[in-house]
Amino acid sequence: MTRFYLTTAIDYVNSPPHLGTAYEKVCADVIARYHRLRGHDTRFLMGNDEHSQNVFKKAQELGLEPLAYCDQMEEVFRRTWARLDVSFDDFIRTTEARHKVGTTEIARRLYDAGDIYEGVYEGWYCVSCEEFKQEKDLVDGNCPLHPTLKPEWIREKNYFFRLSKYQQPLLDHFAAHPEFMQPDNRRNEILRLIEGGLLDVSVSRAGQSWGIPLPWDPGSVVYVWFDALINYASAVGLGADPEMFERWWPADLHIVGKDITRFHAVFWPAMLMSARLPLPRQVFGHGFMTLNGQRMSKTLGTIVDPIAAADRRGHDPLRLYLVKEVSFGGDGDFSWERYDERYNVDLANNLGNLVSRVASMAHRYRGGRLAPAGATSDQLARLAEQVVADYRTAMDGLALHEGAAHAFRLVDAANEFIAATAPWALARDPGQSDRLGQVLFDSAEAIRLASVLLEPIMPSSCREILRRVGADPTGVSFDRDARWRNDGARMLLQEGPLWPRVDTDRPKETTVTDNPVPPDAPSPGARPPAGQVAPAAGSPSAAGPAPAVPVASAPTADRISIDDFMRVELRVAKVLAAEKVEKSKKLLKLSVDVGSEQRTLVAGIAEAYEPEALVGKTVVVVFNLKPAKLMGIESNGMVLAASPDGGTPTVVTFENPPEPGTRVR
Ligand code: MSP
Repeated sequence: MTRFYLTTAIDYVNSPPHLGTAYEKVCADVIARYHRLRGHDTRFLMGNDEHSQNVFKKAQELGLEPLAYCDQMEEVFRRTWARLDVSFDDFIRTTEARHKVGTTEIARRLYDAGDIYEGVYEGWYCVSCEEFKQEKDLVDGNCPLHPTLKPEWIREKNYFFRLSKYQQPLLDHFAAHPEFMQPDNRRNEILRLIEGGLLDVSVSRAGQSWGIPLPWDPGSVVYVWFDALINYASAVGLGADPEMFERWWPADLHIVGKDITRFHAVFWPAMLMSARLPLPRQVFGHGFMTLNGQRMSKTLGTIVDPIAAADRRGHDPLRLYLVKEVSFGGDGDFSWERYDERYNVDLANNLGNLVSRVASMAHRYRGGRLAPAGATSDQLARLAEQVVADYRTAMDGLALHEGAAHAFRLVDAANEFIAATAPWALARDPGQSDRLGQVLFDSAEAIRLASVLLEPIMPSSCREILRRVGADPTGVSFDRDARWRNDGARMLLQEGPLWPRVDTDRPKETTVTDNPVPPDAPSPGARPPAGQVAPAAGSPSAAGPAPAVPVASAPTADRISIDDFMRVELRVAKVLAAEKVEKSKKLLKLSVDVGSEQRTLVAGIAEAYEPEALVGKTVVVVFNLKPAKLMGIESNGMVLAASPDGGTPTVVTFENPPEPGTRVR
């Protein structure tokens, strides 16, 4: 089986993740999920880079031991990645023992190869970059990336790595493996740099305690970049587990930002050459995310909190925005307005509306059950085949934005197909019954296939769509499922809108048409007129000309909008363990599996349930509730229960329990 080992840069933990760092992780996650979809044995590594001076300083400022601070930050990072549905297989911290083993191993190998020598470094150091700088790297005496922070002038005993010795071997490697550094523009930049000559580099820092001691001189610590790069190898057992290392090394792909490609495409391969270890197959340098065209910076206040962005429209809409709106490899911009706009255009009005309309028509005309009733649409089937091939080429070539766009070609084609075949008209003619059945089946098939292709980008939404179009949402496989099918009966589910349309104050991309058309017969592109809320599946307007329905007369002033409701993330959870909370009559401490992680929460149901009776039950929890301390226990979430005034609570459970982590809405 093809194996695929993929990594991202490991993050400095002196501040929480922002949308720029999150962008990298989401894109890497899409790649990892694509490989899993292809059936590859995939390992996706992420982690935290903790031995930075900034981390040390930050901990001091907070009066914490550096490791205690890093422990706290690990939680912050993990929470963010869980919120974005990032599915890493392993998460490494550079303070872990396994990383010390790997770092020591490489340091020793370089030393034994005669590539390390002692010297004195005198020059500039930018603490924010954690980088030794030459005069020519500075602009007006400042680091161009951190113009407000003066670089430090340092003079200290350092050990140097003979990087200069690897100039020619690196050039040879680049020539023999043009794919080693991508995209091409960054490859050319790096090539120019190597051709310009390489200076030896420091691999240690003197007089510091925060770091991994050098094996041959424990008075110095390993320079943070030297330490950080090794994480990719120590995470797969370098120096500790030869079998594991043999299985996973070399990495297939390092995904990193354009600012650190030099470390990955020059320094790292040279270190590996010296250590006589194979080189990673590819380094991909992605671009930078800006906010309204400005560099993301804490001091400028131009940081976007990825959790806030996910909370606003859901993690999948955010993931789609990041992947589809930015050409992978280039820079991209985020703005809240554009995010809302794309949400409306791609999801509320396009894909979401398509799913609702097809389900609605299936129920209206076929009781929800669709089966082939003749020849499939050649046109749609042929286009689907082409889309799958184009998608695959794009994704294999890391053109993630193109992959997303190809999948949406199929969504557009399905909308156009419905407009052209007009099922509502076929339904009026009994002689066209088979044709109607086939048209609906083909439309549902196009949705199914598009969802398979979009699954790496919007995993939970696509699984939900697959469920709604009567396909198996589990264990989706590219080889088996990314092909046009005209077989089997499917029961479509008619449920609420996947992505309710939101109001934005900005001009819409939708076009208002004066020509009244029934809602099943939209203009090409399937966009309802500007301002019109996408009809919910099951609502009369979703399935054809609206019959007269009484307008609800209940007062609506106190009601909340669907947006407000969707902010509450309810998830299916399985109770793994339960125990009474000491000194409390009412409280039980539960450990639950919420799909992406295991959580502890405290529930006031002890008077109604024995702890053992709860173990194994599938319940519903409020996933995004702020943690609260109850009797000294931090509760991360809340179990839903019917709680009559003065009566005993009854926990909400399921007749057929869904997978933990499934969203309840
Ligand atoms: N710790 C180093 C990496 C060591 S890898 C062996 C580091 N950390 S970082 O926290 O500063 O950055 C982590 C990743 O996020 C890097 O790949 C960096 O390029 C990327 N990004 C930081 N800001 C970004 C944007 N505004 N946009 C996109 N990616 C961004 O560097």
